[in-house]
Amino acid sequence: MKKLTIGSILKRKNGEPLVMITAYDALFARLLAPSADILLVGDSLNMSFGGNPDTLSITMEQMIYHTAAVCKGAPHTFVITDMPFGSYTDNATALANAIRVYRETPADAVKIEGGADKAELVRHLTANGIAVCGHIGLLPQAVRAEGGYKVKGKSEDEALSLIADARAIEAAGAFILVIEGVKADVAERVARSVSVPVIGIGAGNGVDGQVLVFSDMLGFYEPFVPKFVKQYLNGAAAVKEAAGRYAAEVRSRAFPDENYIY
Ligand code: KIV
Repeated sequence: MKKLTIGSILKRKNGEPLVMITAYDALFARLLAPSADILLVGDSLNMSFGGNPDTLSITMEQMIYHTAAVCKGAPHTFVITDMPFGSYTDNATALANAIRVYRETPADAVKIEGGADKAELVRHLTANGIAVCGHIGLLPQAVRAEGGYKVKGKSEDEALSLIADARAIEAAGAFILVIEGVKADVAERVARSVSVPVIGIGAGNGVDGQVLVFSDMLGFYEPFVPKFVKQYLNGAAAVKEAAGRYAAEVRSRAFPDENYIY
C-alpha cells in the first residue's frame, strides 16, 4: 500500500473510512502495516506494554524509543506519535518536544490531547512546521484529574462544547482529529462540523475512520476490555496455548527432536 500523505488523508474526509491501529514496536508494526492507513504510537503503550494503570507516567524518551522502532518496522506507513503527559505544558515545551520527535524519529505527526484550551498550543506547533493530530472527547491523560474515564457528549451542552473543541483544533491547523469515548450521535455531529477527518474510538460509526489499540483488537490485553472493543483474535488464549505446548515439550524432551538440531 502507498504511504499516505497529509493531502491524501484530508481527501478521505467523507470517503473510504481511514484505518488507524496503534503499534508499539517494529515486530507488530510490520504485521499491522499492510492493513493500516495510519499507525499510532499511542501512549496507551504505557498500560498494555509497560504494565502501568494509566498512560501518565510514560516519558518523552520512551515515546521516542517506541516511535523509532515502529517506523523501522513500517517504513512505508504514516506514523503519528503521542505527545506524553507533561510534554506540552506550554508552547515552548511543546515545540521543543515535538522537534525532538522529528529529529530523533521519522514520525510524520504528533498527537495532542485537548480541545479549545489547546488550540493556541496546536497553532504554535503547526506554525512551526509540526503536523498535529488532535484528540478530543474522553482524554486518557485527564484520568486522574477527572477521577476516571468519563464518556462525553451526554448532554447538549457537552455536545456543543465538543463541536467547539473540534472547530478550534481544526482552525489551529490540525489535519486530523481523534474523538474518544463520545456518544455516537454526538461524534457524528462533531465529524460533520469540521472538514478534517475525524477518527473514532468508542465513538460509533458516523465518523471518518476508526482506531483501536492493537493489543485490545487482537485480544492480548486481559485486565479490562472496554465495551467498544471488538476482539478480532483471542490473542491471549493463543499465546498461552502455544507457550503451554512448548513448555510441555521441553519438559518431556519432545523438543528439540531431530528436525531442530544441527
Ligand atoms: O494512546 C492511545 O492508544 C490513543 C488511542 C486510544 C487513540 O490515544
